[in-house]
Amino acid sequence: MSTLIAYGTKYGCTAECAKRLAERLDGEVYICNIKKEKPDLSKYGKVIIGSSMYIGKIRKEVRAFCEKNLEVLKTKKLGLFTCGMRPDTYMEELEANYPKELSEIARAKDCFGGGFVFKKMNFIERKMVRQFIGIDHDMADIKEDRINGFARLMNSE
Ligand SMILES: Cc1cc2nc3c(=O)[nH]c(=O)nc-3n(C[C@H](O)[C@H](O)[C@H](O)COP(=O)(O)O)c2cc1C
Repeated sequence: MSTLIAYGTKYGCTAECAKRLAERLDGEVYICNIKKEKPDLSKYGKVIIGSSMYIGKIRKEVRAFCEKNLEVLKTKKLGLFTCGMRPDTYMEELEANYPKELSEIARAKDCFGGGFVFKKMNFIERKMVRQFIGIDHDMADIKEDRINGFARLMNSE
């Protein structure tokens, strides 16, 4: 059964997580940035949707993708993930953002961590990260153990 990983990203961290996840999945995997292409969902038995979090929200192209394809997505073996730097609230943020009907049937749901690259951010984003998260330097905190656990669930029968 082929797998689609459809993701939305601003600065690339979610793309990197999608790539690492794909390496751990059984069978053929196609990775797609949904801002750039519209995948043909009929080709895939498994669909994994990923998005980074910004101020408590998933990316708008990911939200639109879920809403537009809701009925088809409900027929798939589904996984949902986020990338974010607020580990304390990540599951609440995930549940609050993906449609409930998808969240209820998803076989795997997790936050894979994330990172900050200050030179890619605009002035306001830098200020927000300094002020609200208290970080003023680049960092990467991708949670390999969570990606492994997620892949195991998606690979199981
Ligand atoms: C302005 C700003 C707001 C953010 N808001 C959140 C948030 O609400 N929750 C969270 O978990 N992470 C938050 N983050 C962290 C990002 O989700 C994290 O940097 C992620 O790795 C970005 O992934 P991307 O490069 O794929 O867009 C925020 C980052 C920035 C710069």
